[in-house]
Amino acid sequence: MSLKLQLLFGENKCSMHIERGLLSKLNSILPEYCQTRKVFIITDCNVEKKYGARINCGLSEAGFTVCTYAAQPGEDSKSLAEASRLYDAMVEFGMTRCDTVLALGGGVVGDLAGFTAATFLRGVPYIQIPTTLLAQVDSSVGGKTAVNLRQGKNLVGTFYQPKAVFIDPLVLASLSDRCFNSGMAEVIKYGLIRDESLLTFLEELGGRDKIMKHAEEIIWRCCGIKKEIVERDERDKGERMLLNFGHTFGHAIESLSCYEYSHGESVAMGMYAAGVLGELAGITIIGTSERIKKVLTQYALPYKLPKISRAELYERVIKDKKNLGGEINFILLKNPGKALIHKAAPDFIKNLTMNDRFLVREQ
Ligand code: GLY
Repeated sequence: MSLKLQLLFGENKCSMHIERGLLSKLNSILPEYCQTRKVFIITDCNVEKKYGARINCGLSEAGFTVCTYAAQPGEDSKSLAEASRLYDAMVEFGMTRCDTVLALGGGVVGDLAGFTAATFLRGVPYIQIPTTLLAQVDSSVGGKTAVNLRQGKNLVGTFYQPKAVFIDPLVLASLSDRCFNSGMAEVIKYGLIRDESLLTFLEELGGRDKIMKHAEEIIWRCCGIKKEIVERDERDKGERMLLNFGHTFGHAIESLSCYEYSHGESVAMGMYAAGVLGELAGITIIGTSERIKKVLTQYALPYKLPKISRAELYERVIKDKKNLGGEINFILLKNPGKALIHKAAPDFIKNLTMNDRFLVREQ
């Protein structure tokens, strides 16, 4: 099965292809999206080991000149220092604005490569080839690129659309269960914010093996939701914020736990917390948080907050970068399948997170 989506942003467009085995067909599919036969692959050492030789070989046979830069895996590579090393390597390679960057890897690689492509020579074309579920359904789509600063994640970045996103669900087979399930948190998020039938489907499938049988369709449905939202609000000023459901608490948990929890795991806990908070505030239909808890548990995702104090959690939440101008754009559910932006004063969050009924947990 081969599924496609086309994202339109004014005169820029991004083509998405979802197909098992796509990685082995890059040599035939790539020329349509590249002005020249010169590509600069940005990846990490783990992904390089798995796919580097195969891709290099295929592309060289198709007449491409290839240079590969493999960063260290992990969040530390999403830095200005790494971007600077990449610029040096791109100059050395003789990269021009007609040549193409390929981002081959998970979210870190995608964000770093996108940022580097957006800024080198004031912008060179790039293509996303995401290799984790999280990157396939979220970070490779919609053109957010960034590096981290010492002071926080994603503090320097651009909106810069890739020319194409090539998604091969076969690459998911090599992910650990933990990494796969982290991606499932974002998949579940799409069901919760926009598509109750997707949520029901995920509840019925209930685990990785069955998800993999329907991987193309599920990825396509998630990316279809993201397409609709980001086409209307590329710059994240309104509707796109809905994609951050679970992320306000999620980011706080991620940093308070010193990244012991992955992004997906933190978002999972954040979605449950937002569900409980919405019910307490009388905005979310009662029973929603219970449903969130059940589906997260099906995919071995945590829902209970780690042992951090509610005061610390609140402090971290109001420091979050989205909370500029005194008001917090808090994403809540009306019901499963429908999210809304609740503009809240910090006191709203404070009262609820300090409320004795907020996550008085079964721990
Ligand atoms: N990952 C959320 C967004 O792309 O807006």
